[in-house]
This record gives sequence, structure tokens and C-alpha cells, in this order.
Amino acid sequence: MAGEDKFASLIGSQRPEATNIVIFGANGDLTKRKLLPALAHMHRWNLLGHHSRIMGVVRQDWSHAHWVNYVHDELLNYFPEAVLNPPSWQRIAEKLTLVSGDLGDPDTYANIAKALHAFEGKKNALFYLAIPPSWYETVAEGLHAAGLSDESEGFRRLVIEKPFGMDLASAQGLNKSIQSYFDESQIYRIDHYLGKEAVQNLMVFRFGNSVLEPLWNRNYIDHVQITVAESLGIGYRAGYYETSGALRDMIQSHLMQVMTLVAMEAPVSLDADDVRDEKMKVLRSIRAFSPESIKTHTVRAQYGAGEVNGERIPAYRQEPNIGPDSSTETFAAVKFFIDNWRWQGVPFVLRTGKRLPQRVSEICIRFKAPPQKLFEIHKANMCNNELTFRLQPNEGMQLSMTAKQPGLSMDLRRVDLDATYGMDGSGMPEAYETLLHDVMLGEAGLFSRADEVEESWGIVAPILEAWAAEKDIATYVSGSQDVPGMDELLGDCAGGWRDLSAGLQE
Ligand code: BG6
Repeated sequence: MAGEDKFASLIGSQRPEATNIVIFGANGDLTKRKLLPALAHMHRWNLLGHHSRIMGVVRQDWSHAHWVNYVHDELLNYFPEAVLNPPSWQRIAEKLTLVSGDLGDPDTYANIAKALHAFEGKKNALFYLAIPPSWYETVAEGLHAAGLSDESEGFRRLVIEKPFGMDLASAQGLNKSIQSYFDESQIYRIDHYLGKEAVQNLMVFRFGNSVLEPLWNRNYIDHVQITVAESLGIGYRAGYYETSGALRDMIQSHLMQVMTLVAMEAPVSLDADDVRDEKMKVLRSIRAFSPESIKTHTVRAQYGAGEVNGERIPAYRQEPNIGPDSSTETFAAVKFFIDNWRWQGVPFVLRTGKRLPQRVSEICIRFKAPPQKLFEIHKANMCNNELTFRLQPNEGMQLSMTAKQPGLSMDLRRVDLDATYGMDGSGMPEAYETLLHDVMLGEAGLFSRADEVEESWGIVAPILEAWAAEKDIATYVSGSQDVPGMDELLGDCAGGWRDLSAGLQE
């Protein structure tokens, strides 16, 4: 394949064994927007293996031809390159296969088992649950009962999307139940943030360089800000979002996972469990929230009407299927403390929200000011050093320093040393592609282990409880980043909140 040479450095040397990818929820949103494009992309790089199949499982009574047309049309929308070249599309179409059936019906799983058995080559299978969480247990049980968790004919891996539980008790229940059908080593809990190129790069920057480590602690770091801002609203997900809110949807999962990577010690090796053991230690060191600290260390708010990118936006409560008195938060910010030797006293402030002015995800490490106020008189232009990892868009890293303004006076200015990752959008793997590839390779380092998921639910549990009891919620204007209470939350952290557009200015 021509593309293969061009992207050889991106693909790496590891090739997964041929794998049958069985997608539950094959006609759902995640499948069309993320999974099919990721699989087509992998196919373009010849990473799927000659005997791999893509098996859709749908409840509707679809014909094979309907499934093939469906995949064709969705790829045309989301990854047109895959279908515009007829021979390439033909090779994808040959891999497609369909099982129609109810998820509660044992025959559905028997049909999947029969189809897998009839395929040529190895019987490796990856079962992707792109379905509502209320079905996870039923499907795991159905697969197990049909002998599909048994690995004697090939590996069998279960891939589960978030949300993994809605609170500690439901996450524990779900883990217990699923682990009775599949071994923990067969379970891959997706947190797509861990598949992002820039998040993986964070590990490399931290542990592949020696210059950062001496500074990476309470002696030099004032605080850490982790931001995931979105300009989009809730789209058509009112049903889900009303039961979730920003704390569950983003902080308990994506942002806390990123925080563990910033704060963890170097793992013994890159083996999944060595990395996850270190992440767990961070979670276990997080200071528990009390009713008092919830008042001072958390902020929640909901978007009101406003304007984002020139478009008029209705208030959250006016969105379709949202009640006029909803108190669901669309913005959440939490100040965490990690009570260990390295991080004692250093706030980790996590914030996320919808309908903010820009889509920006970044980690900002803000350093302490120099101990001597030598340039006191020019203080207005002094900045605390900042090391920022931009996760999206414009992935890269920036180090902000104070420098002298050229000229006769001793004026100071801020200079930004910028290293963009220089990613060519056309070739870079998307998070879902990285994660699917890892599941096929059996590499679980980028997936959350059961204990991590439970620990993080335990940490946010008191906040969830306190917020659930509070019906009043502050609002912010859509398109603005002025959320009530945010300055108080940052308190005496140096330098204020990082401007959301700061990383977009290059
Ligand atoms: C999902 C959340 O997990 O992540 C969404 O459920 C959110 O609400 C999305 O929009 C953000 O992901 P990304 O990759 O667009 O930053």
C-alpha cells in the first residue's frame, strides 16, 4: 500500500494479530463517528489483518446489504477517503458481516459464536460495547454463556465505553458482575483521553527527559491547572447528560486520569499494571472532601443563553428535552490536593465546561515566582514560569519565561518558547484508533483498571452527594469564561486562571 510507506513511522513495528471486531450498537453514534473511521484508517495502514472481520450487531432486522450500505454512507460522511477509492472500499466491504438480534436473546450470542467459528483464520475477537451502560451486564453475560469469553480458540477481549457506573456503588456492582463473566485482564475500559497523542506524549516528556524531574514537585510548582473547555453544548444527548453533568461526564474520568499522569511517580516499567499501580497511588493520596471543603474547593454552574462563535445559543434549560428547572451542571471545577511527599500543598485545579468561548484542552504547570524580587520595580511584566501541554487543538508544548525587552530600558516581557508537535492531521491516528490498536495488541496501559475507576468514584462521591442536595445553580453566559466563584476557587494560586485563548494565539 502506498500510504503504508508514507506513514511507516506512525504505524510502528507492532502488528496486531487478525482480530474479529464485533460491535454492539453498530448503528449508533459512536460507531459511525469514531469506530468505523478508526477501523477504516487502520485498514488503510494494513493493520487489520487479512482474516479480520468487522461484525455489526444490531437489534433491527437488517440485511447484509443494508449494513454494507450503512457503513459506506457513514464513512462517506466521516472518513470519505475510505470509500472514494473503489478497490480500497471493496476490501473493507468484504470484511463486513452482520448479526441481527435482541441483546436479551441468547440466540443472538449463539449466532455470533457460530459466525466467528465459520470464519477462516484465528478466532480472536474483540467485543466493543458501543451501547448504553444499562446493557453492559446483559451482553457480558450473554457472551459468556455462549462460550465467547473462553480464550482457547483465540483471545477474547471486552471493550467498554464510559460511563462506567454513575457512582461508586454502581461502578463496584458493574465491576463485580462483569468480572464474573470475563477476567479483569480481558476487560478494556475506554477513556478516550488516554488515547490522545498529546496525553501519551506527556509520559514521554516526563520520563524520557531528565530536565523536568528536578523541578516536578512542591518546591518549584505553585499549582497545576487542567482544563478541558468545549464550545459545543450537549447536542442530542439530553437524556444522558441530565443523569450525568460535567463532574461525572468529564472530571471523574478524563480530567482525573490526566491528573494522575501529571502527578504519578515513574513506573517500574511501561507494563500496564506498573503504570496503573502508580496512577492508583496518586488517586489514593488525594485528600478527601468534607462538607466545608466542597464549599470552597468546588464550583458548578450551568450555561445560560449567549453567543458562541457568532451563533446565538439558548440556555441549557431551553435545550430540547431539558426541564426548565434542571440543576445539572454544564461546568465543573474542583481543587484537589495530593497528600504525598512530592505534592503536599500544591493545588491541582481541574475545570471543564460546555459552551465556553473555545475548544481548548491543556495542562498548565505554573511555577513559583523567583525567591528574590530583583525586578520588583518592573513587576507588572513579570510572569510566573509556565509549562503548558496543549492536548487540543494545536497540540504542543509551551514554556513561558520572563525576558528583557530589547532596548535601553530594563523593561521585562514574557516570551513563549513553543514546540508544536507538528502533527500532520491527515496521517495522525485518532484516539480511538490508538486504543483499538492497543486492544488488539493486548496492551492495557491506556485503559482504566477496575480499582482506578472505583477509587475515582469514591473521591468525587461526597461532591456528587452535596451537589445533588443543592437545587440552586449559578449560571454563566454561553460564550464567556466568567463563571461565578472561579477566582475564589483559585484563591492565592499565583497568576490567575490561564486565558482559554492563550494556546491558540500562535
Ligand atoms: C466525552 C464526553 O467523553 O468527551 C463528552 O461524554 C465530551 O461530553 C467529550 O464532549 C469530549 O471529548 P473530546 O475528545 O472532544 O475533547
